[in-house]
Amino acid sequence: MARIVAGIGSSHVPAIGAALDNGKTEEPYWKRVFSGFEKSQAWMRETKPDVAIIVYNDHASAFSVEMIPTFALGCAAEFPPADEGWGPRPVPVVQGYPALASHIAQSVILDEFDLTICNKMEVDHGMTVPMNLLFGKVDKNSHWPCPVIPLAVNVVMYPPPTGHRCYMLGRAIRKAVESYPEDLKVVIFGTGGLSHQISGPRAGLINSKWDKSFLDNLSKNPQKLAKIPHIDYMREAGAEGIEMVMWLIMRGALDDKVDEVYRFYTVPASNTAVGHIILANRSRAGARKSAAKSKRPAKVKRAAAQAKVDGLRG
Ligand SMILES: [Fe+2]
Repeated sequence: MARIVAGIGSSHVPAIGAALDNGKTEEPYWKRVFSGFEKSQAWMRETKPDVAIIVYNDHASAFSVEMIPTFALGCAAEFPPADEGWGPRPVPVVQGYPALASHIAQSVILDEFDLTICNKMEVDHGMTVPMNLLFGKVDKNSHWPCPVIPLAVNVVMYPPPTGHRCYMLGRAIRKAVESYPEDLKVVIFGTGGLSHQISGPRAGLINSKWDKSFLDNLSKNPQKLAKIPHIDYMREAGAEGIEMVMWLIMRGALDDKVDEVYRFYTVPASNTAVGHIILANRSRAGARKSAAKSKRPAKVKRAAAQAKVDGLRG
């Protein structure tokens, strides 16, 4: 059976991709950002997911303003990087996982979430920047470490889906994954945010207090976040802060109680707050099997697990 083992929240600031592609990661401004993801990359190498579901938003790259699906699931075998105005990013073509993606589409649509099925789609920085932050720099002619199922969410033109709708979609995705017979270790990303506004009189707005509260509740009280109306995101987190509803799809796909493995927050990158969190399911794959095999008392095992989590907290 496939199982979601962890959720990852990550900003997808386009300037981070440009800094990586142009060899600026060691410059002090950018080193501050990239160094915050070093432990995350180590965690990802150790976790070795078989597939990642990445919730992101398209920035008028695959979809023009003529056609904007609310939720679009990538069911293709591959997803080339989009040309966002200065040529496609020098990253590998993203390999898909059509069998699982089609299974998710069937399960979720029959659960009354009306996804758009995309059998051909290019992907932009919304997806490839978080992939770089978690998987590291990957040569254009090489391969990403695992296949990806993209889920594009409309947060660029009113009305985006509500936070509650996103949270419930996450639950439906979890149900879909767990009904897939292949033994797969799955991680799910929620991307975008955190607080930012890129135009108008409030351009450059960052609200660190709001961001921290969002991250706290993402771990401990996501249902409170699911009740936040759009207007609160707009007022408190800026016009583009609405991207944060995508993190609720990721959170909805996890256990009610999760372990916060790691968190990173820094401001600014470009004119955006950068937020990142890793949340691990307590029912993650293999945990029960390895616990059954181990002869260590449960108390010792819990202490060892906690030490591992503490070691990752920076
Ligand atoms: Fe974005």
